[in-house]
Amino acid sequence: MSSVTRCTSKSVKHGRSVCLRSIFFNSVKYYPTTLVLGIETSCDDTAAAVVDDTGKILGEALHSQNEVHLKTGGIIPPVAQQLHRENIERIVKETLCVSGISLDELSAVATTVKPGLALSLGVGLEYSLKLVDKYKKPFIPIHHMEAHALTIRLINQVEFPFLVLLISGGHCILVVAQGVSDFLLLGQSVDIAPGDMLDKVARRLSLTKHPECCRMSGGKAIEYLAQQGNKLHYELRAPMRHHPNCNFSFSGLHSNATRIIMQKEKEEGLQEGHLMSCVTDIAAAVQHAVALHIAQRTHRAILFCIKSGILSQTNATLVVSGGVASNQYIRRALQIVTDATNFNLLCPPPRLCTDNGVMIAWNGIERMRAGLGVLHSTDGIRYEPKASLGIDISEQVGEVAIKVPSLEVSLNELATINL
Ligand code: KG4
Ligand code: ZN
Repeated sequence: MSSVTRCTSKSVKHGRSVCLRSIFFNSVKYYPTTLVLGIETSCDDTAAAVVDDTGKILGEALHSQNEVHLKTGGIIPPVAQQLHRENIERIVKETLCVSGISLDELSAVATTVKPGLALSLGVGLEYSLKLVDKYKKPFIPIHHMEAHALTIRLINQVEFPFLVLLISGGHCILVVAQGVSDFLLLGQSVDIAPGDMLDKVARRLSLTKHPECCRMSGGKAIEYLAQQGNKLHYELRAPMRHHPNCNFSFSGLHSNATRIIMQKEKEEGLQEGHLMSCVTDIAAAVQHAVALHIAQRTHRAILFCIKSGILSQTNATLVVSGGVASNQYIRRALQIVTDATNFNLLCPPPRLCTDNGVMIAWNGIERMRAGLGVLHSTDGIRYEPKASLGIDISEQVGEVAIKVPSLEVSLNELATINL
């Protein structure tokens, strides 16, 4: 092993797909003990990756449908399905090609089977089942949110238990990860997810017409514009202040933001669909309210975990992941909370926070190591559009009714500009 040389990481572009990393040893192929191909099609990204049991990413490829869905003003499931169908084989082939691995060499195939859009999940599952049948490989069905929660262990040595906040376009949950497939659910959104809300506000603000952020996802566009805005210009209060639990709500914020937008349109004499002069201030106010709400609920979850002895007060960790976790303002708001409670804050790099094939392959590796859910027969395997994560103790959390110190002053002082 001493004569190992590794090719430099390279990024090969094929249209809008990106292939990353390829590892060889003195031109001789490298054979680790376990190699898992991960396949992700739960929403609007067709993604695949090969990861080994040491956490090395041998190769990955991703096809994003973002541009198509931005044009249609949201994801239309049959369109997403068609795009997954058109791309899945190419993405898997590109992944294997940059990995330098053949299908025969794989130890298993891991694929997202829940939760997600039924039509999208179906494409990944059908394709994967054909692969495992043809190449006689074990199959590992993956829970998309479990994969987001465990991604951090690919990068950092984080031992169980740890607290996880998952914030994305489809989900908003606070869980304690006690083991690879052992979670306690402390709270979740009672309506829509924060990414969904940010996407809706971005659409209502017609940000696809903004020259600087026309190709960004709604959440990213809000973050980008918020940097130039005054977050205190409009008052958007964080929701659920009188519910002392760890649940979240974002639809009230959405309505309030829409009300402000309509009022401004009236003042500026503009019709819906036109860019307003105040988009930066609205973006900053919305991002601030989302950050404050998320930080308050997470603060309560931390205090609950300490009080109930679920997590120790020394050396405990909060992991934040999901697409919205790539937002630097929200991360800094959470940093204020973890500094105040002596928790470590860990976030995967942005490209591993949004949907990707690596997290699915890594979840497969974690499950193989733990001997959990590795199937040698796929009879009766179905996808599940709705699936909760872990044992729900959110009512007990609410009954304890922990008071959270106000974060408003510290957050008001937080700069929107990304440092
Ligand atoms: O995890 P993800 O890729 O897909 C799922 O929903 O599972 O998350 C996508 C969501 C979208 O709603 C997008 O607007 C949001 O993450 N997002 C962001 C940022 N980048 C992506 N939200 C806030 N700030 C960002 N920088
Ligand atoms: Zn996701």
